Amino acid sequence: MNDLELENVLKKVNEELTSVGDLNTLQQVKAKYLGKKGLLAIFMSNLKNLTIEARKEFGSMTNQVKQALENRFEAKRKELEDKLINYKLNSEAIDVTLPGVKFNTGSIHPLQKTIMELEDLYISMGYTVAEGPEIETDEYCFEKLNLPKGHPARDMQDTFYINPELLLRSQTSPVQVRTMLAEKGKPIKIICPGKVYRRDADDATHSHQFMQCEGLVLGRDVTMADLKGALLEMARLMFGDERNIRLRPSFFPFTEPSVEVDVSCGKCGGKGCSMCKNTGWIEILGAGMVNNNVLRMCGYNPDEVQGYAFGIGVERITMLKYRVDDIRNFYINDVRFLNQFKEVK
Ligand code: DAH
Repeated sequence: MNDLELENVLKKVNEELTSVGDLNTLQQVKAKYLGKKGLLAIFMSNLKNLTIEARKEFGSMTNQVKQALENRFEAKRKELEDKLINYKLNSEAIDVTLPGVKFNTGSIHPLQKTIMELEDLYISMGYTVAEGPEIETDEYCFEKLNLPKGHPARDMQDTFYINPELLLRSQTSPVQVRTMLAEKGKPIKIICPGKVYRRDADDATHSHQFMQCEGLVLGRDVTMADLKGALLEMARLMFGDERNIRLRPSFFPFTEPSVEVDVSCGKCGGKGCSMCKNTGWIEILGAGMVNNNVLRMCGYNPDEVQGYAFGIGVERITMLKYRVDDIRNFYINDVRFLNQFKEVK
């Protein structure tokens, strides 16, 4: 072992490294020279046989060579690692310009949209939302709403009876009755959206099942002017700020006086056109001051409490708002129809 041999080691390593192409082989070559039983270790162990002078000189040379080898191996390791990373980057590259996978999203059903809007509006005016069952008693659906036995609205032609006392509710008005009986004379301010059923043959304007949104406000000083305000807000929310409403005398057994409410025609601005049959007005709902008989039957004293009720046809106002001309569109789940409402806010 001498200086020459040490220099040769460097040369040999450099030669060997030129053909090393992966980290595993590099590790093996490194072990051969710098490992515990590697060439440099053998050189070191031989130092003890030398004179002190020679040991000093040769020892420091060996250390220098060891350092040089370590640097060399480290440089090679870096080179191989960079190569590997570059290879991976190139082979696994993601093309960010490729189009993504498109999912078909649904949208809120137009009727549900109307109900959500009505709820938002009336909740903002201090109402709460009440619900009742769709299978209702004759007593709540008719009797306590001042529709006694023999009234035409109870006819088999109109109502789905389950038995003489149970039926599919034909209106959301029985929720008024249920709320009054539960509140026992206290003030009430509710809306009640929900499904109703009638024995109607389905056509463009009739459906055996549709939706209503009932309203009921009872208190000491609730007046017809309050009713008009509550409905004007609703009409403007649904049809636009410039719309007006008018109340026309009408009849419902559960209200007295009763009114039908018209909204000014949006197509002609009230001048008269085919949409409003040249009247300038379009009927949107029924309403009135709660009939004293109803108040009494539901535990309220008409001398102390009065109030109003209204019944909005959810399909009716939705059809008017979006110019839908066939009520059946709401139920047949044709995506070509439903997709129109995707963009509607
Ligand atoms: N229940 C009525 C109907 O189905 C709608 C209605 C009219 C409800 C006037 C009311 C009202 O509460 O006051 O035709």
